[in-house]
Amino acid sequence: MKIAIDGPAAAGKTTLGKKLAQTLGFLFVPTGAMYRAAALAAHRGFRLEEIDITVTEAGKILLNGEDVTALLSSPELDELSSVLSADSQVRERLVALQRKIAEGRDVVMEGRDIGTVVLPGAELKIFLWATLEERAKRRQREQGGNFEEILEAIRRRDERDSTRACSPLKPAPDAVFLDTTNKTPEEVLEEVLKMVEERRARMGS
Ligand code: DC
Repeated sequence: MKIAIDGPAAAGKTTLGKKLAQTLGFLFVPTGAMYRAAALAAHRGFRLEEIDITVTEAGKILLNGEDVTALLSSPELDELSSVLSADSQVRERLVALQRKIAEGRDVVMEGRDIGTVVLPGAELKIFLWATLEERAKRRQREQGGNFEEILEAIRRRDERDSTRACSPLKPAPDAVFLDTTNKTPEEVLEEVLKMVEERRARMGS
């Protein structure tokens, strides 16, 4: 079974995806982290064809074999990855890597274009959403910093991720739209697990 989770920045995709994959025993693939690793590689002067990015069972991101997981969460890479992800050649390369990772196995994959482009045949597609203010609040709780600045940075990324020409952020027509603004991570997980059970029952019938 393949599960696609898409949605805007800081909507809780990674929190949900990790727990969901853990509960189901699936591989979790955070594609945002892959774009961040690609941005780190570009920053280090690598050419696109020199970049190999893999995701381990333990949730580590490897850039040409080096564990770069701890380096990927910074405001600089938030911005750099958002800019780089608008490049069609970068997307082509990462989408190919993502499809290869998902081939022949159960995955929970999160990103912006998973249900629309990477895994259009996914059995369950979730579009995870929360208001801009709520997402900024969550980011501030996680990382600290100035609320207005965080809000503005997320707003800028939303705008760029949704308006780029190549695979912009948008819900797949068959995605379930899930508003998490007033829900706890546990409530969201429970709701999605119910959807998984429903899909499984339907697939089995
Ligand atoms: O989810 P994130 O913030 O870690 O993603 C980093 C950037 O990568 C984000 O600005 C948009 C881009 N991205 C994308 O274009 N497609 C994906 N499937 C995942 C992320």
